[in-house]
Amino acid sequence: MSINVALQNDKDHVWHHLTQHKVYENNDPIVLSSGKGMYVTDIKGNEYLDGTSGGVWTVNLGFGRDDMVDAVSEQLEKLPYFAGSFGNEPAANYAKELTEIMPGFERIYYSNSGSEANEKGYKMVRQRAHFYNEGKKHKIIYRDRDYHGTTISALSSSGQLQRKKDYGPFTPGFVEMPHCCCYRCPFNKNYGDCNIECANALEDVILREGADTVGSVILEPITAGGGVIEPVKEYFPIIESICKKYDVLLHIDEVVCGLGRTGKWFGYQNFEVQPDIVTTAKGVAAGYAAISITATSAKVFELFKENPANPDSYFRDISTFGGCTAGPAAALKALSIIKQEKLLENINTVGAHLKDKLFELYDKHSSIGEVRGKGLLCGIELVKDRKTKEPLNEQIVTSVAGHCLQNKVMIGRTNRSFEKNNNVLLFSPAFISTKGDIDLIIDAVDNALTETV
Ligand SMILES: Cc1ncc(COP(=O)(O)O)c(C=O)c1O
Repeated sequence: MSINVALQNDKDHVWHHLTQHKVYENNDPIVLSSGKGMYVTDIKGNEYLDGTSGGVWTVNLGFGRDDMVDAVSEQLEKLPYFAGSFGNEPAANYAKELTEIMPGFERIYYSNSGSEANEKGYKMVRQRAHFYNEGKKHKIIYRDRDYHGTTISALSSSGQLQRKKDYGPFTPGFVEMPHCCCYRCPFNKNYGDCNIECANALEDVILREGADTVGSVILEPITAGGGVIEPVKEYFPIIESICKKYDVLLHIDEVVCGLGRTGKWFGYQNFEVQPDIVTTAKGVAAGYAAISITATSAKVFELFKENPANPDSYFRDISTFGGCTAGPAAALKALSIIKQEKLLENINTVGAHLKDKLFELYDKHSSIGEVRGKGLLCGIELVKDRKTKEPLNEQIVTSVAGHCLQNKVMIGRTNRSFEKNNNVLLFSPAFISTKGDIDLIIDAVDNALTETV
């Protein structure tokens, strides 16, 4: 099949994610055909430097890795699939290795997307409520700038109002609390003089709803698509102590941050906190297979085997593709590559370089209001005016990212998330990236800011 046929087939039949298709009546979509290391190539032969790890924080180890391909293909030859009510070798071995890097966690439940992993966490909370208080302790609290997935209940538990718009009615039992972005403090306070009200707000919400109705709170450790928001160091210890006080499970959504992105195995490990449930997906198998994880402490797991006489007392959930073996086989290989190639160290070194370079851009471009992030999860918030912090118009932000793309460098941006704050450019290159790769990305952004804003 020739190149143009694939392009035509795409134009005629593929419904692209997050895309208004009118634009393709006069333009061609980018249709990718191959990738190697930090670069991807489209079917027209254009090569792009990928500063996004596959668009959405996923291809963490780069493209075209024979070691990953071999790990998957060897497993597929042995056994491609069996439903998850039985075990399989890579799933068993990955569960052991994963729990070793997340002290306090004992059990791994497999499924195949971040949204689904979060839904498993919610189902555990709901079932626990039914075991112990007739379903009353079922509510789940989330923050207004966090995202937890695309299915209706995952969306019900997400902030980012623009993303939810037109998809209601939503699942009941999800309750919102404010975010923790100091730059845009929801309480109009300044750090050092604020009593960390964003964390203490959790207690207010629990008391308002009734502590006997709240089962869990779900939080991203560092908010990713909502604008790269890292909480202050006091935040998570306060959250954890409130959770303990009211017997509320702490669920950390590591779909983006998990498996190294922030320079530690998990985002929450940057803070003093011990969650009860952790979910992760995207980078687990570095994009070489689909897999997601719901990890729980022994405390949560034991609740589901306490009462074998009751036919309802086990976790009555299934995920067809949670039984694919390619996912855990690829995940095992990805974990060993991160260890062998010392990629956590690289994330910290190259991430620090990225942040330094973003600060250099800050000094040069007054349109940058703030530089944020940790490891290889960084962002810059663009403003019209540094003093008033008025956000830069979303269309201009889009054209900054578009300018980079024209120059064959892919960066991310917040997209229809939190109204008026779709003004953050996102940088999340793969863990194998070098300082040289970062410099190319920074040059592209520098030019784009000079020529577009
Ligand atoms: C923090 C977070 N949680 C959950 C999800 C949903 O993951 P998936 O798209 O695999 O369902 C995403 C996706 O972007 C995410 O960023």
